[in-house]
Order: sequence, then structure tokens, then C-alpha cells
Amino acid sequence: MFEVDYIPSEKPLFNIRLCTNKRLNKDAQPSCAGRGSRELADKIEKILLEQSIPAKLIRSPCMNNCKIGPNLKIQAGELYNGVTEDRLDEIIDAIKAEVTRRKAETDTTS
Ligand code: FES
Repeated sequence: MFEVDYIPSEKPLFNIRLCTNKRLNKDAQPSCAGRGSRELADKIEKILLEQSIPAKLIRSPCMNNCKIGPNLKIQAGELYNGVTEDRLDEIIDAIKAEVTRRKAETDTTS
């Protein structure tokens, strides 16, 4: 787990859930943590903090899509399957787009 004094620059606008479930593999099922999702969670969290992106990463239990994991869900937004480090830029861009969308939504309602 990435350890840092978590002091976000602004209140998170939404959560991102990344499955970090690790299975003991008694039934030979794949798991997201078995495919590197815990390391990926650390990297995403670090980027969110470094770039002051107002979203919070939550390490999630199994999302019941184990065969196509690691799985990441933007709260009230897109679900991404097969998330690997190769797709990190795509995921961060999607999170930033969601921040922009939610800020615009807040501006029009206030
Ligand atoms: S282990 Fe991640 S969806 Fe089941």
C-alpha cells in the first residue's frame, strides 16, 4: 500500500474503485491482485496526489468480473476491465475528464 500523509488539495469529487482482491487460488480462478492491481492502486494514488486530481482511490473487494480484471470503476461513470499499467494514461485521462465534467456540472447548478 502506498503510504503518504493524505492531504488532498481539495475535497474529492468522486471515488474510483479498483479491485485489489487476491484469491488463494484453491479453485484456480484468476484475481485482480494476482494480475498486479495492488501495485496499480499505489501508482494511481500517487498520480492523484502528485497532480492534485480531486478523486479518491478505494481498494475494492471483488467486483465479480475476475476473468476480465483488474477492474476499475469510476463512481457513477465508466467501468474499465483489464486495467494494466499500459493503460494508466488512458485511465488518468478518463479520471481527469470526469473531474472536468463534475466541476462543470457543479458550476451550472450553483
Ligand atoms: S478478483 Fe477482481 S473482480 Fe474478482
